[in-house]
Amino acid sequence: FSVLHINIKRLLITIRLSFCLDLSDVPWFPKKISDLDKCANRVLMYGSDLDADHPGFKDNVYRKRRKYFADLAMTYKHGEPIPRVEFMTEEVQTWGVVFRELNKLYPTHACREYLQNIPLLSQHCGYREDNIPQLEDVSCFLKERTGFSIRPVAGYLSPRDFLAGLAFRVFHCTQYVRHQSDPLYTPEPDTCHELLGHVPLLADPSFAQFSQELGLASLGASDDSVQKLATCYFFTVEFGLCKQEGRLRAYGAGLLSSIGELKHALSGNANILPFNPEVTCKQECLITTFQDVYFLSESFEEAKGKMREFAKTIKRPFTVRYNPYTQSVAVLKDMPSISSVVEELRHDLDIVGDALQRLNKHMGI
Ligand SMILES: [Fe+2]
Repeated sequence: FSVLHINIKRLLITIRLSFCLDLSDVPWFPKKISDLDKCANRVLMYGSDLDADHPGFKDNVYRKRRKYFADLAMTYKHGEPIPRVEFMTEEVQTWGVVFRELNKLYPTHACREYLQNIPLLSQHCGYREDNIPQLEDVSCFLKERTGFSIRPVAGYLSPRDFLAGLAFRVFHCTQYVRHQSDPLYTPEPDTCHELLGHVPLLADPSFAQFSQELGLASLGASDDSVQKLATCYFFTVEFGLCKQEGRLRAYGAGLLSSIGELKHALSGNANILPFNPEVTCKQECLITTFQDVYFLSESFEEAKGKMREFAKTIKRPFTVRYNPYTQSVAVLKDMPSISSVVEELRHDLDIVGDALQRLNKHMGI
């Protein structure tokens, strides 16, 4: 305990010797949660603009429906409730097929944290074969569990904008459903992928913290660093594997929402390497085929520890700290901003000291 106090004193001396940094070359990034309104609409592809090889390309009814979802997302502003959607029969049927088939695999393929949260989502958010959960209900549920919330999005965001959302514990989710012609395939994220792949893990505190730290590391970082973080995101949050009770399990959303790739990744035939951000960040991300390699973490805590070390190597003339009271990031770049964090830490240490003292007294030590 006293060692920590000494370290804080040393830190304060270092701060006094430092000076205010020039941030004029740093790329713009959101400083408060409502700033996400400025970057959440910069989608790379959306609405009825489907590629020629998209299963819904020739389906005008589907394209019109996609335009409806794109407009809902594009007009959304921070703080508003996410519009409730009345899903069409075909959409519910498509979801039903995905839900039924994936649920057969989860008990033997999904990680412990996933399996713990699925029953809660059935109970609180209407996760059922015959019902597509509403993003608004899911967002309220996540806020209570981990402080994460959902923002509807019209399509792919740039890695920089997507990661920026995570820094504020905001997850951008698509609300449209894949084309009904092939329920088990989608060339892009859809609401089945978000709800079945991402949401159950976002309800886990340790995973939520891991996701937010990835986001915080990206704020104001160079394009090259953002790309490296996005690749780490891809091979953990989207395609990550872990080992639990000696067995391989999936925690990545891209796996947990794809029957074919989930089976493949755990089949014993896939290439699996230990997660190491230095190595992982150089791996190629494949979008239309199975991954060449998957990365294994022993636990979220282990993955978080490795990402924290990696984040320190990212070139950025400052660091940031999230303030949950104001849902904003403080840029720690000068003496006053760093001193205020030290004051908060000192107060937290006092609480720990007080708690230990009371515990000792109670136990008669
Ligand atoms: Fe995803």
